[in-house]
Amino acid sequence: MPLHVSQHPLVAHKLAILRDKTTEPKKFRELVRELTWLLGYEAMADLATRPEPIETPLEPMTAARLEPRVGLIPILRAGLGMVDAMLELLPTAEVWHIGLYRDERTLKPVEYYNKLPDAATVQVCLVLDPMLATGGSAAATIDILKHWGAARVKQVSLIAAPEGVATLTTAHPDVDVHVAALDVRLNERGYIVPGLGDAGDRQFGTFAGPASEPGHGPDDETAEVVRRLQRDLEG
Ligand code: PRP
Ligand code: URA
Repeated sequence: MPLHVSQHPLVAHKLAILRDKTTEPKKFRELVRELTWLLGYEAMADLATRPEPIETPLEPMTAARLEPRVGLIPILRAGLGMVDAMLELLPTAEVWHIGLYRDERTLKPVEYYNKLPDAATVQVCLVLDPMLATGGSAAATIDILKHWGAARVKQVSLIAAPEGVATLTTAHPDVDVHVAALDVRLNERGYIVPGLGDAGDRQFGTFAGPASEPGHGPDDETAEVVRRLQRDLEG
């Protein structure tokens, strides 16, 4: 699974502002959108093209048109903020939402929305989710897409943890992963550190008090899940 960590200075600059805890939801959403343009441009760099004869005002020529049908697969909720930017890059893309939330105690993804039709309608799927933490949500979504019949899947995230990259490498070695940054680790609550906190809450302004804050309070079961992921990563 090739991991592509963007080296673009604009990505680094925008990510710095995104991470800052004083960045308000409005600015946060703008940055998610701008970062998605930049990562989307990089993630689609190897899409196939086909020759197509056209006529410019001056003369005929053979131009290149995008070959595969592309699907955007935002993982609800936080992936929603990446959709418009991708659609601006690729207005003909189909958007297929997958609803998953991460159980706070077990860190396992729980599916709640999936309206995919019986057979795949696109050849390339771009899974959109700002955070690749344990990798559970991404791996589950990619399982769904492969069963659906997607020939090729790419994951586009803003920040990944090494534990999540390892999980995805094992489950889906064929999937390219494009990120703005590879962070240091998960904390005992399964949040990426240094990270940016909760990407959904920061986009949508849904802060429900201290109990909902990343890293609030110990939970032995969750901490054990994270320790197991870290042991897998080391050995
Ligand atoms: C966040 C994030 C990912 C998931 C990543 O979503 O947007 O979907 O967690 O964690 P994982 O790699 O450990 O699976 P969350 O469950 O908080 O739902 P939300 O987007 O609705 O806030
Ligand atoms: N989900 C988030 O929004 N942030 C994290 O750090 C981990 C999961």
